[in-house]
Amino acid sequence: MKAVAIVPAAGRGERLGPGTPKALRALAGVPMLLRAVHALAESPAVEFVIVAAPAESVSTVRSLLLEEQLGASLSVIAGGATRQESVRLGLAALPPEAEIVLVHDAARPLVPVELVDAVVAAVRAGADAVVPALQVTDTIKAVGPAEVVAQTLDRSALRSVQTPQGFRRSVLEDAYAKAADGAQDSTDDAGLVERLGMSVQVIPGHEEAFKVTRPLDLLLADALVARRRAESGRA
Ligand code: C5P
Repeated sequence: MKAVAIVPAAGRGERLGPGTPKALRALAGVPMLLRAVHALAESPAVEFVIVAAPAESVSTVRSLLLEEQLGASLSVIAGGATRQESVRLGLAALPPEAEIVLVHDAARPLVPVELVDAVVAAVRAGADAVVPALQVTDTIKAVGPAEVVAQTLDRSALRSVQTPQGFRRSVLEDAYAKAADGAQDSTDDAGLVERLGMSVQVIPGHEEAFKVTRPLDLLLADALVARRRAESGRA
């Protein structure tokens, strides 16, 4: 079963501070998006990568990626106003032979290839939808009006969900078709599948698949790249 990865990369990354779109910001000299695409293309299961870039950066992103030696075919399209819209546009660009679809945030540039492989393997083993996730370490509270705590959630049942998320193609297409009115915005793709009443399989996530959102995350990512370089002489 062939896997195609959609990479939503059209966000502005405002929480990271002003500047170029987040996906194009460099981590130790290499744009985050490039690192994310390499991690996906390194997986033998991934044959095609579709990048949803900021509309004004499509040609920049295309020339950046075309210079790379990738183990997968590539298509760069213009993303949309929300993450969900960017993924929807990616789905519309799927090649006909795609049977498994991964969706991976450009903002998780250091995802280990083993995690990509594990997500694909779980879909191949029969899951309709798969998310990698970690236990949460903080106590999570729901907060009501005026920042008053409404509820303390049971931490043992909580997971922090990452990408890549993996799907049988028809399942993700159905989920997006049902959410077509745009009224139902979801911060992840599995959330739309859950709304269909279908089950979503959780597999162990990986700490290095963390999302680069705030300036401190950039420090962590730089340190991780430096450690990988020291360990392997590459990255
Ligand atoms: O904003 P957030 O960190 O949740 O974004 C997750 C991913 O979605 C990022 O890789 C970002 O580039 C992407 N995104 C997108 N189109 C948007 C907004 C976010 O592709 N309009």
